[in-house]
Amino acid sequence: MLEIRNLTKRFGGLTAVDDISFRVAKGHIHAVIGPNGAGKTTLVNTISGVYRSDGGSVWLDGADITDTPTDQLVYRGICRTFQNLEICGGMTVLENVMLGFDRYLSKGLWPTLLRSRRLLEDERRYTERAMHLLGLIGIRDYAHQEARNLSYGILKKLEIVRALATGPELLLLDEPVAGLNPRETAEVAELIRTIVADEVTVILIEHDMRMVMDLSDRITVMHFGKKLAEGTPEEIRNDPEVIEAYLGGRR
Ligand SMILES: Nc1ncnc2c1ncn2[C@@H]1O[C@H](COP(=O)(O)OP(=O)(O)OP(=O)(O)O)[C@@H](O)[C@H]1O
Ligand SMILES: [Mg+2]
Repeated sequence: MLEIRNLTKRFGGLTAVDDISFRVAKGHIHAVIGPNGAGKTTLVNTISGVYRSDGGSVWLDGADITDTPTDQLVYRGICRTFQNLEICGGMTVLENVMLGFDRYLSKGLWPTLLRSRRLLEDERRYTERAMHLLGLIGIRDYAHQEARNLSYGILKKLEIVRALATGPELLLLDEPVAGLNPRETAEVAELIRTIVADEVTVILIEHDMRMVMDLSDRITVMHFGKKLAEGTPEEIRNDPEVIEAYLGGRR
């Protein structure tokens, strides 16, 4: 479904993403792991059009989508979350999720929502869908609270729900459980399983090795911008180079 070919991104003299290639099959969870500074977030930012690439290409279902801006990618079914939360604090939880549905409502429609019965019905339908998604991850009770008053754990979950609201075929998750406690981590892992069963493909950047090993179909390991290894969780777990470069210090 997604193919990354020789993708490269430089910052001045530093090659943060260095000739990276891999393929992600439809319906798979594909993890990208590696030590701090390995280039994982830069890779996601380059795939998702936040940065312009310095080489290589990105293909979605056979179409070249290299350097397509993030807001355009949403229309092609790609959505991502951020390592650092990007939630609108002054809006309620529900309103934040409704932002995700934006692509289904033509531009400038919101102001007229109150005037058209059909649009009111649309809003009701999307509100129901939003509440359903919030229920899936157990934060439905917070729907009408302002985001700024809520805990970090709830906001991390909210960010995933908002990305899901865009109806993506491919979801890029950058450290979805960083800073979450074990119970919240398990809930997010369960949500990821549920959405993949709904035929969403996921690229998962995560330091939580247990979650990565449990959830992933395949794993790409990055080290100093380069691809160090790729394989199934079993292969990665037993790869001496990976153990040396990455897992070694952590076990
Ligand atoms: N906007 C930027 N400008 C300059 N250098 C950057 C920029 N973003 C990242 N870098 C550098 O690129 C390298 C890769 O960073 P990146 O954030 O992609 O790593 P990461 O694998 O996501 O790390 P972490 O696990 O800590 O999130 C690092 O050396 C970082 O300092
Ligand atoms: Mg990162």
